[in-house]
Amino acid sequence: MNSTYYVTTPIYYVNDVPHIGHAYTTLAADVLARYYRLKGLEVFFLTGTDEHGQKVQRAAQVKGLSPKELADQNAQHFRDLWSKMNISCDDFIRTTEPRHLNAVTYFLERMITAGDVYLGEYEDWYCVHDETFYTESQLQDGRCPMCNRPVEKVKEPSYFFRLGKYQDRLIQHLESHPEFIQPDIRFNEIMSFVKRGLRDLSISRTTFDWGVPIPEAPGHVTYVWVDALTNYISGLGYPGDTSGRYQTFWPAQVHLIGKDILRHHAVYWPCFLLSAGLPLPRAIFAHGWWTNEGEKMSKSLGNFVDPHQIIDTYGLDPFRYFLLREVPFGLDGDFSITALRGRINADLANDLGNLLSRTAGMMDKYLNGRVSSPREAEGLDDDLRAKAEKTFAELDSALSIFAFNRALSSIWEFINMANKYIDKSAPWSLFKDSSKKGRLQTVLYHATEALRLIAILVYPFMPGSAEEMWIRLGQEEKITARTIDKSSKWGGLKSGTIIKKGTSLFPRLIED
Ligand code: MSP
Repeated sequence: MNSTYYVTTPIYYVNDVPHIGHAYTTLAADVLARYYRLKGLEVFFLTGTDEHGQKVQRAAQVKGLSPKELADQNAQHFRDLWSKMNISCDDFIRTTEPRHLNAVTYFLERMITAGDVYLGEYEDWYCVHDETFYTESQLQDGRCPMCNRPVEKVKEPSYFFRLGKYQDRLIQHLESHPEFIQPDIRFNEIMSFVKRGLRDLSISRTTFDWGVPIPEAPGHVTYVWVDALTNYISGLGYPGDTSGRYQTFWPAQVHLIGKDILRHHAVYWPCFLLSAGLPLPRAIFAHGWWTNEGEKMSKSLGNFVDPHQIIDTYGLDPFRYFLLREVPFGLDGDFSITALRGRINADLANDLGNLLSRTAGMMDKYLNGRVSSPREAEGLDDDLRAKAEKTFAELDSALSIFAFNRALSSIWEFINMANKYIDKSAPWSLFKDSSKKGRLQTVLYHATEALRLIAILVYPFMPGSAEEMWIRLGQEEKITARTIDKSSKWGGLKSGTIIKKGTSLFPRLIED
């Protein structure tokens, strides 16, 4: 297995403030980063902002700001949301930073040296919202096939990248690396797109200037997608790499993206890398889109789900849990307050919250909070232990294929089993019979031990709640790098540990 893990999110346009779609990818990346750190891998998690291009320039004009002023404001909004969401990114790259500009220039020079860039004239359609070129035949009813907005006719001198030259190599790579594009439906989409033939790609614009100049080509600024995709290596210090990060972490384990930006990542980016002679990322995973209460989110409807508002109302960890539990990562899903409230009450308050509060309550009431080693075993103890071990294995295999909801449903099976273990063992009856003290201590040891392991299991998803559980369970060392190696063995709970009662971790919401 690799000892390093590099995970990225798209870098977000700074034309506007963040919404749930941005929060979703960044959260998924955070879960992976946290999980692989727990496993002891050296992790690098990069996110950032995409600040050049026509879309940002126009948004700034509308607001009467310079593009850089707008970028500064909105980049800060992204940073603020990530800190509110407990996002553990290792760096935040902005495409207006000198380290990035240098990397783009160098990367372009490599493509030019490879003989892959030539001057021509672009005459076709452009969607400013998606910053994407379309041919007449790709349009749908004369509009952008991706976002359905009006497109603009562009006719201007432009440098082109010889995308067509890389068609066969890309097909070969796809054939020999079926995991390169995930899920399968996206792989098939890209394979058939590439097989239909790749046209050379316009990579410079001359009708505006908010971007990275093309080397030695006055008046040409780099197409914003060439600029943006380069963040995945500029963020590692490419090409100077005095930090050693690029050497350590490239190629990325996975680029997490939304399905709307698949073609840029799965076709353009690999071809640019091939041209520049750099290795390709190991995987690209495209997730689905959220609707809000059944409706597509849009500016005109003004119905973007605001992560701040949900977190302020329902708490951060319920929000983090819901986003990854409700919908399989590759599919579209609907954000609904009823569904969110349902998950909070059923999964968080009833299942997990209740397991913690009843166990801590009984520990306190029956054993003064003090853990004793298990002495009187019964068969159902072994079942609980076996389930714990199985759950760690399931978490690992689910996260290796980005099946966040499957990982959570396995963890919840374990939580439910622990609740049933308590029901069946009935500590309240054991307590009434002093000859059963040994069994009472054993049962509560196992329930507490299950909770200790559950704290580790849920940590990548709900780090704040997991840490709170950890403290209540009397654990002194923090949940941190290598915790899975060091502390995930059943039986690691020490005799003499003091368990603290506390307020409910996930308060039940009153039904509307
Ligand atoms: N700047 C480009 C990415 C460059 S990466 C080299 C970009 N930015 S974006 O801000 O428009 O979008 C970023 C991400 O948000 C995309 O992955 C997109 O899929 C995601 N989402 C935007 N709306 C969404 C939903 N309604 N639901 C889920 N994700 C969505 O594209």
